[in-house]
Amino acid sequence: MSTENGCSCALGLSSRPSTSHHKSAGQEASFSLRPLSGDLGVEVIGVDLKGGISSELHAQLQEVMHTRDLLLFRGQDLTPKDEDAFMRGFPHNEEAIASDKLSNFYFKDWRVPDHKLVAVQFSGLRLDNHFGVTSEEFNLSAKNRQAGISFKTLWHMDLAQNQVPPEWVSLYMLQKPQNGGDTLFASTVGAYERLTPDQKTFVDSLEVVNRRPDSFEGTFQIEETGTWTDDPVQASGRVDSESSRRFEYTQPFAIRDPYTGQKSLLYHTRFFHCFKGYSRAESRTIIEEVLLPAIAPEHTYRHEWQNGDFIAWSNRKIIHTSTDPEKYADEARLFHLVFLDSKQPLIPARA
Ligand SMILES: [Fe+2]
Repeated sequence: MSTENGCSCALGLSSRPSTSHHKSAGQEASFSLRPLSGDLGVEVIGVDLKGGISSELHAQLQEVMHTRDLLLFRGQDLTPKDEDAFMRGFPHNEEAIASDKLSNFYFKDWRVPDHKLVAVQFSGLRLDNHFGVTSEEFNLSAKNRQAGISFKTLWHMDLAQNQVPPEWVSLYMLQKPQNGGDTLFASTVGAYERLTPDQKTFVDSLEVVNRRPDSFEGTFQIEETGTWTDDPVQASGRVDSESSRRFEYTQPFAIRDPYTGQKSLLYHTRFFHCFKGYSRAESRTIIEEVLLPAIAPEHTYRHEWQNGDFIAWSNRKIIHTSTDPEKYADEARLFHLVFLDSKQPLIPARA
């Protein structure tokens, strides 16, 4: 890949950790890149997102995003306006954002009034006019205990249950817990690329049946360690009885990235029911075969959050999960989340 000024930033899946320097003609911006893991991610060093960045610089960062799928910026001091501006630099669906019907439907009470794209996520503290959001103390672990459920981790893509899932998502950490709270990221491009040609052809033919309430969650799910668990308690606690939350529809499993042509796999533990035409047991075997290698420690990126870390990632190419939820269940935690609505329909890999 080369940028306008001809500098090379070829950071393929096999690149070893190294630093590349980027300079843009006519612009003072200069930044370096440090790959984070074999499969995905890059730390962008030397870019301050505060106050916005030029469209030229954003275009360069998008090029990097297309090959590494996750950008980490450390030590940022951002307002919701900065987060909003950076994320809207990616292709998006302005109408959907304005409608509050797709991604902005979630966390309605905790959206920054002037920048509804930004949802405030918090636990173990009260918000006193945090960028216009005020709320009584909310404690996720207490709420879960009350509901009789244990807080579990699960691998997922954000809003993969939507017909047009967000292409890009960001998380900005303002107050990290003292204990645990790391996030794991795994590339489903990597998962696809590790398959044999025959397996690729097979996977290209699969359709996912997403269905609630009887999805994988609660019956069995992939833990962060890569093992499968059965948890009937979780099942009884998390099954959603509201009919409005019930759904069933199919999606392609293998999808094509419109920017690079790369193929990736669409997956959300909470909504996956089975592959069309296959039993749940057969479906589980396929998921294990295809996704377990991708979430092996040597292929994942584990991010240990520091306050001021801003991460944006390709939501249709990466699955992610929280870790060790019991470790920080009673601690204060505060971060911002952006799900960027997309106009880009899913493209089946076989198309
Ligand atoms: Fe998520």
